[in-house]
Amino acid sequence: MKPLQIAIDGPVAAGKGDISARLAREIGLVYIYTGAMYRALALACITRSVPRKEADRVLAVLGDTDIDLVEPDKDSAFPYKVLLGGTDVTDRISDPDVSMGASDVSTIPEVRQEMVKRQQEIARGKRVVMEGRDIGLRVLPDARLKIYLTASLEERVKRRQLQWQAKGITKPFDEVYEETKDRDAQDMGRSTDPLQKLPDAWLLDSTGMTQEQVVNAVKTELHKRQLL
Ligand code: DC
Repeated sequence: MKPLQIAIDGPVAAGKGDISARLAREIGLVYIYTGAMYRALALACITRSVPRKEADRVLAVLGDTDIDLVEPDKDSAFPYKVLLGGTDVTDRISDPDVSMGASDVSTIPEVRQEMVKRQQEIARGKRVVMEGRDIGLRVLPDARLKIYLTASLEERVKRRQLQWQAKGITKPFDEVYEETKDRDAQDMGRSTDPLQKLPDAWLLDSTGMTQEQVVNAVKTELHKRQLL
């Protein structure tokens, strides 16, 4: 029997991270945050002043940098841990300058190809819940459950604002609204593997729902499909 693998895709601030981490904890899966790998690459480019859409130079950075997703520390505020060249960059990659940078580097087809390969290696043979933008399409096309998790743009912007606040960053609604819209447009409009709701994905609109309600909805779906 193949291990239970769940793919969660969706737009910015749909709650993919919180829901995946909670679900993983509750039903005993490994949580894999693929966006962290694109973010780590963007950070490496920022640090080396490499323009994030210059394919050759970004690829060279990817080729000679170690990006590792490892077990989070017990007392960590994050349910994941990312090392860039051995340095812990978990907190740094959630900064505002890295977000659009990650979306930028992710438009490069060869970057995506390499990331998908690395992510498939990480997931191979494991019970996982993996989240990103192309998980159901490319990374885990045989996932037992594919979820397209979304919420209204207004609600996602409010959630994003709260995430910034938690980091001590105050941003007006309108600014976060524009940033969210721009990043979604790039992630859904790129030519290679754009974010989309796949025909075989289960649509979960979490507008107005608590995290607990969303996780319970996923568990109910898993039971319905006799996967739990
Ligand atoms: O999940 P996130 O918002 O932290 O991801 C940051 C960016 O990385 C996102 O805007 C697009 C890109 N990404 C991707 O293209 N494919 C993935 N599987 C995960 C992230």
